[in-house]
Amino acid sequence: MTTAPACYRLESVQHRYGGRVVLDIGSLEIRRGETLAVIGPSGSGKSTLLRLLQFLERPTAGRLWFDERLVDSEPALDVRRRVTTVFQRPFVLNRSVRANLAFGLHVRGWSNRPAEIDHLLTALGLAPLAHAPAQSLSGGEIQRVALARALAFDPDVLLLDEPTANLDPRNVRLVEDLIRERQAQGVTVVLATHQIFQARRLAHRAALLLDGQVIEVGPTAEMLDHASDPRTRAFLSGDMVY
Ligand SMILES: Nc1ncnc2c1ncn2[C@@H]1O[C@H](COP(=O)(O)OP(=O)(O)OP(=O)(O)O)[C@@H](O)[C@H]1O
Ligand SMILES: [Mg+2]
Repeated sequence: MTTAPACYRLESVQHRYGGRVVLDIGSLEIRRGETLAVIGPSGSGKSTLLRLLQFLERPTAGRLWFDERLVDSEPALDVRRRVTTVFQRPFVLNRSVRANLAFGLHVRGWSNRPAEIDHLLTALGLAPLAHAPAQSLSGGEIQRVALARALAFDPDVLLLDEPTANLDPRNVRLVEDLIRERQAQGVTVVLATHQIFQARRLAHRAALLLDGQVIEVGPTAEMLDHASDPRTRAFLSGDMVY
């Protein structure tokens, strides 16, 4: 793993909103093909980090490299499209579930891929809802539609923001199985999650964010079981007050 080339590199990256620093990362590397869990309390900057990695916002200061290339302006469309985010609060179009998936492909000028769409809908337990209006679905169903839509794009990099926050255990399992399928294909995954157990199940490495700073990063089990920083241990044990 250590010799794998970097998918992203961040150096002295700061991000501010209205003068307030919400992200302040000295250095962080996300390796090609790895799954990195970004854990941390609410407001610690997880979603902000994913927005930078999706090129939706440019860091206020510092440098971000993607695929060994410095991202100093908005990357070309074909580069941006190699990365797909499943947002924490996903939106769906006012169309059927199936049409939501097909429309994304259409916008990109891709041919419809009905077999792939069927596979994704079935794998996520959405097949019975394929013709239902997507906006009528429950929060957990919408979350799964958003994941299916993202996977239909076949991204090289998948940014997942609390992808199972609204799901029951059976659906968590369906989602994690699909994530594993993509991991096996070499997709790089960044998973923002509050769920320590999910990080343990899915991620090669984990990074703890506190107040926008990476406190600790390392192989998941090592970090979760033998955290070296007292703040990491306090967060993991639930003793941290935030
Ligand atoms: N567009 C924005 N304008 C101003 N402040 C923002 C904006 N987006 C995020 N913030 C602030 O930045 C901080 C980090 O937010 P972020 O959404 O990245 O946290 P998070 O770790 O994803 O939290 P959660 O676990 O609740 O999703 C928060 O204090 C938030 O209020
Ligand atoms: Mg968030």
